[in-house]
Amino acid sequence: MKICVYPGSFDPITNGHLDIIDRASKVFDKLIVAVLVNPGKNPVFTLEERVQLIKDSIGDAPNIEVDSFSGLLIDYMINKNSKIIIKGLRVVTDFEYEFQMALLNKNLNPDIETVFMMTNSKYSYLSSSMIKEIASLGANIDEFVPDIIKNKILDKFNVRKG
Ligand code: PNS
Repeated sequence: MKICVYPGSFDPITNGHLDIIDRASKVFDKLIVAVLVNPGKNPVFTLEERVQLIKDSIGDAPNIEVDSFSGLLIDYMINKNSKIIIKGLRVVTDFEYEFQMALLNKNLNPDIETVFMMTNSKYSYLSSSMIKEIASLGANIDEFVPDIIKNKILDKFNVRKG
């Protein structure tokens, strides 16, 4: 069984992430969305909130698991019996950072492969940080996150508009 892991901060999940989750879950037998426990990065959403927003967004998907991890990704991969890391690439500027991480992980464990998916062009400019910024300033985020979590995000910034 081909199990892949899609790691990230997901602070919060966006339609861009969901596009990758949807497509990767069709290519692999099982997809694990792994949320990094990253207090150092000072996330706006707690780990529990980030996990719940993902669960709410994906609904009932039999081959998708939502989990969290701390420590090295490659150690988590071994625990989960997975050898495939899934990453989304949006714009050229993502490439250098992702290339570095992929090579580093390859060096740490040569058995683990990083597979990149190009994001849907609709979402190529989308990032969690921009969504947080515009949501906190009261902009409409309808196009960027699923309806089901939109109000939870707006509530976080006290800008729910009904
Ligand atoms: O959504 P992000 O913040 O770009 O995701 C980064 C993530 C979680 C994939 C990366 O920071 C990570 O894998 N962290 C775990 C620690 C680790 O294994 N570091 C070595 C590889 S960079």
